[in-house]
Amino acid sequence: MTGKSPGHLGVHQLIDDGRTRIIVCCGSGGGGKTTIAAALGVRAAERGRHVVVLTVDPARRLAQSMGLTSLDNTPRRVAGVGAPGPGDGEPGSLHAMMLDMKRTFDEIVEAHADPDRAAQILANPFYQSLSSSFAGTQEYMAMEKLGQLRRADEWDLIVVDTPPSRSALDFLDAPQRLGKFLDGRLLRLLVAPASFGGRTGLKVLNVGFGLFTGVVTKILGGQLLRDVQTFVSAMDTMFGGFRERAEYTYRLLRAPGTAFLVIAAPEQDALREASYFVDRLETEGMPLGGMLVNRVHHPRAAGLSAARSLAAAETLQAQPPGHSSALAGVALRLHAERMKQAASEQRLTERFTGAHPLIPVAQIAAQPEDVHDLDGLRALGASFS
Ligand SMILES: Nc1ncnc2c1ncn2[C@@H]1O[C@H](COP(=O)(O)OP(=O)(O)OP(=O)(O)O)[C@@H](O)[C@H]1O
Ligand SMILES: [Mg+2]
Repeated sequence: MTGKSPGHLGVHQLIDDGRTRIIVCCGSGGGGKTTIAAALGVRAAERGRHVVVLTVDPARRLAQSMGLTSLDNTPRRVAGVGAPGPGDGEPGSLHAMMLDMKRTFDEIVEAHADPDRAAQILANPFYQSLSSSFAGTQEYMAMEKLGQLRRADEWDLIVVDTPPSRSALDFLDAPQRLGKFLDGRLLRLLVAPASFGGRTGLKVLNVGFGLFTGVVTKILGGQLLRDVQTFVSAMDTMFGGFRERAEYTYRLLRAPGTAFLVIAAPEQDALREASYFVDRLETEGMPLGGMLVNRVHHPRAAGLSAARSLAAAETLQAQPPGHSSALAGVALRLHAERMKQAASEQRLTERFTGAHPLIPVAQIAAQPEDVHDLDGLRALGASFS
């Protein structure tokens, strides 16, 4: 989409290209999705685009630095970000929001049910636990929110962070899992006795369902079963299926203008997981923008090899204890460690590129400390290629 050569991911090209409308930052836990999503947002806004960043569970200090002090589920303008664009001189802008999973779910209910019914659903204990704790709800709601932001059409670039799942694949699987569950046969069976009740022709069937319900009641408890039944019959009349909504967002994710960025630390497990994930994106026909290897170390004095550095440290160790060169010895050993780490990071990155030669890759330097303010995000963005 950006005309870059295979092998190298041009992050600037990607964010400057007006055809890029959605960037999804994904990858396994702790790789830097939230930080990079925010840094991409700041960078793109300062290069003249109108950007909204949807973050999920950002660290407190990072959230505060973007003016996100409460979970209000609406995009807020980030003060102090946005500068004349490179070409036409138009200033860009950045909005940011934190995903409030439960609030997003509540809003869907409120938008699709009349006020009485909405109140009934919102008060339902089964709904309450589903909307705040079902595995996959967060992933589903992130997608839902993305759909809403896209429909609002107020921004020319949406950057989406994804939930802190153990596996990156959860993001693709969870919405369907949740959709299937809500649309699913189990729930329909649970509701069935209530809707069939009283019809004489269905007596035999009713006995079967009655037995079934009896078993489920024993397992789940009667109150919970009643909660589920009222919840599902209320939801059922409300809107045409969660699965269809998940499918809408899937289409959005596959549309031209979307780019997935897979983010991984230069570590074996993270890169292995990233490998599965890029294969999966390909199978699903999702547009992969490229791979970002994050927190790569580039030691200073890279001209001094680990071996020479260690040899020099050995020589210094021969000096009498307390000699001032003891400190130099420590520094040399530290340098040797860093050189080894950097070599291992490069090796692992090359292994990934070898296995996926057509996937554009960029490396992002490890910053000297955690990234938790706008200046930190700017510095990170400045290291993008
Ligand atoms: N390039 C970098 N240099 C230094 N620190 C970084 C870099 N990228 C991310 N970090 C730090 O790593 C930590 C984890 O990053 P982040 O929260 O963005 O990861 P995540 O993928 O969103 O995690 P989760 O899966 O839990 O949501 C943060 O403290 C962040 O400041
Ligand atoms: Mg995160």
